[in-house]
Amino acid sequence: MLLIKKSRPEGRGLRPRTTGGKIIREPIGILVVKKATAFWDQLAKSYAASPIKDMESYKFTLQRTRSYLTVQDKILEIGAGTGSTALLLTSSVAHMTVTDISPEMVKIGQANALQQGVNNIDFLVDDAMVETLSGPYDVILAHNLLHLIEDVSSVLSRAHELLRPGGLFISKTPCKPQGFGSISYRLMEIFLPIMQLLGKAPFVAIPSVATLEQLIEDQNFQIIEACNCPTRYIVARKTAGKPENSRESAQQVNG
Ligand SMILES: C[S@@+](CC[C@H](N)C(=O)[O-])C[C@H]1O[C@@H](n2cnc3c(N)ncnc32)[C@H](O)[C@@H]1O
Repeated sequence: MLLIKKSRPEGRGLRPRTTGGKIIREPIGILVVKKATAFWDQLAKSYAASPIKDMESYKFTLQRTRSYLTVQDKILEIGAGTGSTALLLTSSVAHMTVTDISPEMVKIGQANALQQGVNNIDFLVDDAMVETLSGPYDVILAHNLLHLIEDVSSVLSRAHELLRPGGLFISKTPCKPQGFGSISYRLMEIFLPIMQLLGKAPFVAIPSVATLEQLIEDQNFQIIEACNCPTRYIVARKTAGKPENSRESAQQVNG
């Protein structure tokens, strides 16, 4: 079954207001940051058409994620774009709920699901706080999303709330390079603020691996697997309280 619901007007920790059901983001400080919904709506068609840059890494992390799934599982993916990864996972799970802030991304995902005859997937237009959902979910996915979120802690806390005890939060997030970084990363660092000033780029805050992992652990997750693949791939288990020595016990695969 496929559906689009309107997002709730307010997301915890975010700064949205609404116009006609769409979330409008306020400027942050002096930067006139392009509103996330408008930015991603505009990009949706070309994003859907663009090939995956590093197919080998993509397949690797997909296979790692699949290894955690069972056919009984209820999965939620936030910031899922057109749901292309979710569609590849539907045969491994009972049900998939796919959400994104961009109605255009969701529309493309719905059309693809229909075309592929996949019916254990629902699509929802919503921000990363997904206040309209209640869970519990066995696994929550957030791929290439957390660096686009202003209040990552609130999103992680919400994911924790929506997971069953012992459920998994699996993320892929571009993080700061450890050394000087590639030329393209350095150029992005220079040009992003300019693009934001011109209203041509959304909010972006690329965390260091240590900061990101600390934020995840602070919300009572234990990191059980992580790799630089090449973006930081993290599998974290929901715990009741703060895990001890989480970082030391995490399985470091490929990086
Ligand atoms: C880089 S794309 C990643 C899409 C998909 N997860 C993937 O890995 O291909 C980022 C996606 O996050 C969505 N997004 C951006 N800000 C968001 C927010 N605050 N809440 C929910 N989704 C958001 C965008 O609409 C876009 O589809």
